[in-house]
Amino acid sequence: MDADGKPASSQHEVESIDHEAIGIERPGLTATTPGERPHNEPFREIVNRNLARRAFLQGAAAVPVLMVGGGLFASTESEAAPRDGLAFTSIGPSHVDDVEVAPGYAYEVVLRWGDPLFPGAPQFNPNRQTAAAQRQQFGYNCDFVGYFALDGNRRALICVNHEYTNGGDMFRNYVPGADKEQVDIEIAAHGGTVAELVRDWSGWRLVKGSRYNRRITGDTPMRITGPAAGHRLMRTSEDTTGRNVLGMLNNCAGGKTPWGTWLTCEENFNQYFANNAEVLETKTREAHARYGVTNGASSRQWEKFYDRFDCTKEPNEPFRHGWVVEIDPFNPDFVPRKRTALGRAKHEGATCALAKSGQVVVYTGDDQQFDYVYKFVSNGIYNPGNRRDNFDLLDDGILYVAKFHDDGTGEWLPLTIDNPVLAPLFKTQGEILIKTRLAADALGATPMDRPEDVQPNPVNGKVYLTMTNNSARNSIHADAGSAASNPRVPNPHGHIIELTERGNDYAAKKFKWEIFLLCGNPNVNLLTNTDDLVPGLDRSATFYAGFADASKLTSIAAPDNIAFDTKGNLWIATDGQPSNSEIGQINDSIYVVPTQGPDRGYLRRFLNGPTGSEVCGPEFAPDDKTLFCAIQHPGEGGGYPNKVSNWPDRGAIPRPSLIAVRHPDGRKIGR
Ligand code: FEO
Ligand code: CA
Ligand code: CA
Repeated sequence: MDADGKPASSQHEVESIDHEAIGIERPGLTATTPGERPHNEPFREIVNRNLARRAFLQGAAAVPVLMVGGGLFASTESEAAPRDGLAFTSIGPSHVDDVEVAPGYAYEVVLRWGDPLFPGAPQFNPNRQTAAAQRQQFGYNCDFVGYFALDGNRRALICVNHEYTNGGDMFRNYVPGADKEQVDIEIAAHGGTVAELVRDWSGWRLVKGSRYNRRITGDTPMRITGPAAGHRLMRTSEDTTGRNVLGMLNNCAGGKTPWGTWLTCEENFNQYFANNAEVLETKTREAHARYGVTNGASSRQWEKFYDRFDCTKEPNEPFRHGWVVEIDPFNPDFVPRKRTALGRAKHEGATCALAKSGQVVVYTGDDQQFDYVYKFVSNGIYNPGNRRDNFDLLDDGILYVAKFHDDGTGEWLPLTIDNPVLAPLFKTQGEILIKTRLAADALGATPMDRPEDVQPNPVNGKVYLTMTNNSARNSIHADAGSAASNPRVPNPHGHIIELTERGNDYAAKKFKWEIFLLCGNPNVNLLTNTDDLVPGLDRSATFYAGFADASKLTSIAAPDNIAFDTKGNLWIATDGQPSNSEIGQINDSIYVVPTQGPDRGYLRRFLNGPTGSEVCGPEFAPDDKTLFCAIQHPGEGGGYPNKVSNWPDRGAIPRPSLIAVRHPDGRKIGR
């Protein structure tokens, strides 16, 4: 019987495979056999039937639309018995203004920019935006996605970053700094969202009345904790204590702690602050310059209305940004904490692991050309028996920066006040943390090709480091550190490093490393021997962990966010393929590559984003049966009305959105 009590109508419906897992009844879709085109027609029938039911059940309420993937397939190979557990047909590249997923899979839009998150919150109206409305709605440019289970695989808190705004794409008439209401909308569209989601027969949907739903914005009150809290450089005229700050800015990726809190990371915070060139105190001005704080007007010109964004009025305010923020999604009253012990950088993400001792280790990359990779090791021990016991673990520990050596070894250099290199240069541990980059410079850390996600693989224990690209790496001699860890000169396509901590202990001070993936076009110049991975490689050189069959591989560029499924396969989201002419200016995508076994390095493409977008997340539900992704800045730069993209609603403007990918049979993603 159907959910609404009517007998199932179609004799073509197959017997259900796993009701518990799929949450929809008798989907009537035979999963596409690899190598075939997907059976779009029956799937549409299901969708239409489900939509009709849902409309019947919910009146005229907003209906999530389940969209069928498929489209261009590059590969027709069939894998009857995949050795890595991956059993889908790799899709080809896309220039289409839509999300495309591997044959047989489907995606639904779960939350769009402007969707109301609370009862009574205004519906999205692009022509009548207000800051008051935006504070109650899903923010702009969703990035990190974190799944915090409330009930296994059916009910969860989803935590999403809202990295930045693009006023020209949001507003009909946008002039930076001209309209205070627009500025307030922009500030309200930054930050993050906590939203309760449930999955029923029709898919994932928001629980609008959930007590957990929350918006964090660019001016939400936060606490500054750890060694830099209260430091002279953290004080402003609005906060003479140096312990309280408004908002988080440019939160890109993040992570989840073992005790179930959300780490959300401020990345390119420098762009919000103006007039650094006029800061009188030389050391402050130079420190801001190392982080790229704007010399003249900022791009959004919030400084016109708020003094804290003007360095001539509040020279210390930029020091209060660039941190990893910890938020308890299970407590909507939790005051977010900026954890200064983790260092100040343009953090991409912050991913956790437990050392053998029980100490908590947090890896983070500083996403800038020639910047560094860091890890924090807590002094305290994780207590799985008492959640609250762990809440201050990230305030006390040692921050390290990575030094790679050309022989495939490396070490973690402590950024501590008792380090003899740093002691003469800095007065306190707080100052070292506020000026993390300068301290790491002094230690001779290895300048990398834009470190993005740094994430331990829960299956093999190794740590994977994505380097987006580095067009400015022009010489192997310009490097203070290892040239072999960033071997391509220049590096237009990015690469991934695989790092093994000594003794497989995340608290180790030494490690080994190797190149896992040199992105690009494998059909042009594929290296298969690790001995060939020498400093100064040509820009066209690619390497897929030794996988030698170029005909099976697919091109990739700009690896950014990563995730692991429960088999340890590495899922890679890209940010920058549309601007890469050497791989065809294709849309950004999600790929998967096994990290172990005979198919190690065999990269396949699973999902394509719409035009102008970057694909973020990715994040699996614990059962691997839902893949959440954030589609960020679809149609970026197209302006209003947008001629580049109108995804997902085909309206005047595109809307950055959280999507969920599933298979109607309830199978695990990609398997
Ligand atoms: Fe916001 Fe490093 O990407
Ligand atoms: Ca990113
Ligand atoms: Ca990026």
